[in-house]
Amino acid sequence: MNILILGSGAREHAIAWKLAQSSRPLKLFVAPGNPGTAETAVNLPVDPLDFERVREVIIANSIGMVVVGPEAPLAEGIADFIMGDPALSGVEVIGPCRDGAMLEGSKDFAKGFMKRHGIPAAAYETFTQDTLDDAVTFIRRMKPPYVLKADGLAAGKGVLIINDFDEAVTGLKAMFGGKFGAAGSKVVIEEYLQGIEMSAFVITDGISYRILPEAKDYKRIGEGDTGKNTGGMGAVSPVPFASSSFLEKVEERIIKPTIEGLKREGIDYRGFIFFGLMNVRGDPYVIEYNARLGDPETEVIIPRIASDLYDLLEGVAHRDLASREIKIVTDTAVTVMMVSGGYPDSYGKGFPVSGVENVAESIIFHAGTTMKDGRLVTSGGRVMAVTSMGSTMQEALDKSYSSVRKISFNGMSYRRDIGADLKNHII
Ligand SMILES: Nc1ncnc2c1ncn2[C@@H]1O[C@H](COP(=O)(O)OP(=O)(O)OP(=O)(O)O)[C@@H](O)[C@H]1O
Ligand SMILES: [Mg+2]
Repeated sequence: MNILILGSGAREHAIAWKLAQSSRPLKLFVAPGNPGTAETAVNLPVDPLDFERVREVIIANSIGMVVVGPEAPLAEGIADFIMGDPALSGVEVIGPCRDGAMLEGSKDFAKGFMKRHGIPAAAYETFTQDTLDDAVTFIRRMKPPYVLKADGLAAGKGVLIINDFDEAVTGLKAMFGGKFGAAGSKVVIEEYLQGIEMSAFVITDGISYRILPEAKDYKRIGEGDTGKNTGGMGAVSPVPFASSSFLEKVEERIIKPTIEGLKREGIDYRGFIFFGLMNVRGDPYVIEYNARLGDPETEVIIPRIASDLYDLLEGVAHRDLASREIKIVTDTAVTVMMVSGGYPDSYGKGFPVSGVENVAESIIFHAGTTMKDGRLVTSGGRVMAVTSMGSTMQEALDKSYSSVRKISFNGMSYRRDIGADLKNHII
């Protein structure tokens, strides 16, 4: 089977790394990929949003399965495009069609879906420029902090959490005024949920699902969760505070109603669902859905899957996921993201990366790197994710931090406190 993975980050590297361990005869391609994915796959210089080019490389390389990494091509309808083209018939897509991708592509749709299917989530209402006055009244009736979310995709930067009433109204007007582009023409305003966040993941064939390892990521740039939001500075799996009784609540109150809700609404969802959750005094609430695997969460959940990843993907394609086994190791996986100086604001690129060859006890998933004159150099805000396993979280952390200290590039930085907030949750 020839498999094409769409995307270029550490998530896609982790998927390629895992598929390369399959006992099945697979040939891997990644578009556009990075120097890390080149270790186990053929990189193809194609933008996942250029559907015509994607089509060409599918045909040219006799691709039988496409695994979609990031959300943008899904929201744009890459699955519909491939499945709707007679010349590509028989090509399986791991990732939802546009209707399923709306779970992530539209916060308003997602909130409505949760309400229709009784899935626990923050109370909310949706507003537009025309209903600005109603929105102001709604905010006045709420208790701060106020949570304002741009409806459309905004690369993880479309959410404002504001304590002050006047600032919230100003923020709302800025969103309607185009602060996040067209994504903010509709704004979801919801109550603030006080708790601790984590993420849960399933793979589904539209009929049944398999629960993947849960994870907790660290979004803020600074230690102690300070500073700006990033794409993710690190992650841990399993999540110590996610007890089996808590995870049971997640499955009963959130996962099952979501899968059943999709069926009831005639949405044939084949792919991954990422549940952004808030643990509020022991009860789970959905903060958001993502229609794909997370980054950096993938870099910790994939290494904990002991079973053959291709067997699960094939289960999605053949719609017999229920008969496929999933084995998850009890070991802990952690990942520490090494980023460019200045990220998430402006940062330089093209700095040589050294020391990678000295790393033995961790897996390095490339996020933002490229080759220049035969040398590995930085090419993004997030540069590489350093993943380690251990029988305890501390053991895994020690390995990752010792590996991180062996790697260097100009201006590099990383958070030194990944997992620190979880230490008092470990039983
Ligand atoms: N109702 C809420 N109460 C408290 N915090 C919230 C709430 N909604 C969102 N947040 C915070 O804002 C962050 C971003 O919100 P959300 O996940 O909905 O946006 P996103 O742009 O889709 O993010 P992502 O890049 O993770 O997909 C959450 O991770 C959480 O920290
Ligand atoms: Mg999201």
